[in-house]
Amino acid sequence: MKKNIVLIGMMGSGKSTIAKLLEKRLRLKRYSTDEIIEAKTKKSITELVASKGWDYFRLKEERVVAQLSKKKGVIIDTGGGVILNPANLKALKNNGIVFFVKASPASIYKRIKNEKHRPLLQVPNPLGEIRRIYKERLPLYSRADVVIHASTASFDKAIAKIRKAVNISLS
Ligand code: S3P
Repeated sequence: MKKNIVLIGMMGSGKSTIAKLLEKRLRLKRYSTDEIIEAKTKKSITELVASKGWDYFRLKEERVVAQLSKKKGVIIDTGGGVILNPANLKALKNNGIVFFVKASPASIYKRIKNEKHRPLLQVPNPLGEIRRIYKERLPLYSRADVVIHASTASFDKAIAKIRKAVNISLS
């Protein structure tokens, strides 16, 4: 397989779970932009954003995306804001099939409401914030090649759809 499998979508939509399942089932190498940034900076994303700010994090993210986009036949799990920078999506699409893991704000909130490590959700009304970000970013996520519905379909169905899309694009 020459193309990469790229997952984009909101935080808490299930990207990382799907990426890990794909890694096991397809036996492909998996990279997470957030994990790489954390390893490089030796800080959690929350700590990094608190100490250096969002612009610094986004710059790191752009560099990591540029590096990963050069790879072939790997799974790339991206941070939810990766699409805010048009250069990122362009690079990711160049060598990859981009899948939008789509989940509703309500199901995202349900999944992550008890997590403390999400810097974007350290606000008084997290569900409102998720709704706001979702609305703002939907047109950007929708530039993906394929949409995977994570809130209605099971993860198994999502994997099956990804496998099918990958096979079609290779044949
Ligand atoms: C972000 C999502 C996070 C992480 C950072 C910013 C966003 O990644 O990159 O906190 O802007 O939506 P996940 O989507 O993996 O949670």
